[in-house]
Amino acid sequence: MLRTSIASITTKRTMITAHAVLYTQHGEPKDVLFTQKYEIDDDNLDSNSILVKTIASPINPSDINQIQGVYPSKPEKTLNYQTSEPAAPCGNEGLFKVIKIGSQVQNFQPGDWVIPSQVNFGTWRTHALGNSKDFIKISNKLTINQGATISVNPLTAYLMLTHYIKLNPQDWFIQNGGTSAVGKYAIQIGKLLGVNSISVIRDRPNLEEVKETLKTLGATKVITEEENNSKEFGSNIKQWVKETNGDIKLALNCVGGKSSSGIARKLGPNGLMLTYGGMSMQPVTIPTSLYIFKNFTSAGFWVTELLKNNKELKTKTLNQIIDWYEKGELKDAPSKDLEYDGNEELSKVYIEGIADKSGKQLVNYK
Ligand SMILES: NC(=O)c1ccc[n+]([C@@H]2O[C@H](COP(=O)([O-])OP(=O)(O)OC[C@H]3O[C@@H](n4cnc5c(N)ncnc54)[C@H](OP(=O)(O)O)[C@@H]3O)[C@@H](O)[C@H]2O)c1
Repeated sequence: MLRTSIASITTKRTMITAHAVLYTQHGEPKDVLFTQKYEIDDDNLDSNSILVKTIASPINPSDINQIQGVYPSKPEKTLNYQTSEPAAPCGNEGLFKVIKIGSQVQNFQPGDWVIPSQVNFGTWRTHALGNSKDFIKISNKLTINQGATISVNPLTAYLMLTHYIKLNPQDWFIQNGGTSAVGKYAIQIGKLLGVNSISVIRDRPNLEEVKETLKTLGATKVITEEENNSKEFGSNIKQWVKETNGDIKLALNCVGGKSSSGIARKLGPNGLMLTYGGMSMQPVTIPTSLYIFKNFTSAGFWVTELLKNNKELKTKTLNQIIDWYEKGELKDAPSKDLEYDGNEELSKVYIEGIADKSGKQLVNYK
């Protein structure tokens, strides 16, 4: 009798073996990332705990910069992953499914889709244990890519277009990096807000095809860096703006260098340029005359800082994006799907993804 009950207790007890991509030292991802296996006792959750399983997490440029140690916001190195020395988790956004909740947890149910409420949570891992304040519940009517990439790029595009200046229907914004994920959201959100856009992109063999794709998303005009830097071409831009009786009021810069001065020069008087990325690794250079004679303003934008202590703005922005997704009015920027099926090293999947420069990578967990 006693033997039977011990046996039944023994067989009931399960531990989840989670896998997480971590680093102890900063450096190039291929040199410093490793997979750590650690146990989660899912039979003894604290009353306020929520156990989630990862559905998918993307690789963003800032995730890579964080591993390299050149990004100002960094996850803390801890012993939480049962490593012998303090290690930090990778990945800042991702989509999880709730698999178990503690006895006191309200507002979350097993099966819910959730995203991390803050950056530095660590999303390149199979499972995570947190509590209600660590997660935001989102609609599970979204696609996996929409849910897994909702926290950074669509919010960035929406907030840059709405939070600083009022763009009216006759107005324009100009952006470089038009092919980036943020750029594609800005194009679509600009269209949804009823304003005009000029997207500057790098030349490429399939230029016309890419221009057409961006126009289908809602871009008013798509031009190359060369066109944007050409004095002769500048008269076309002036004509477009004249036709709407508006002004180019906002420039969105994620490239820097010559590209940033190219878009800044197109702004009308009192224009604002928001710099949110530096893909060319070149400093932002602005002609002095723009400041003096056009009252030009150059400012930085960082979604992490803007939303860190503004839960209300984050919720409002997320709800707007979810609403557009659910109505089919906003398309997610496509990702290249990578698959983790549990049979290979998790860190290897991300390292391969980082090496592939053909577009945004999304790791799907089977
Ligand atoms: N500050 C914030 O809050 C915030 C939020 C989100 C993203 N970001 C930043 O925004 C930028 C774009 O992010 P994303 O996730 O949208 O990127 P992404 O989808 O990976 O796209 C990268 C973009 O950068 C362009 N690019 C790459 N190398 C370049 C170079 N040497 N010169 C000029 N353009 C280059 C690419 O153009 P091609 O198509 O020509 O290759 C593409 O348009 C990144 O710097 C990211 O860190 C910042």
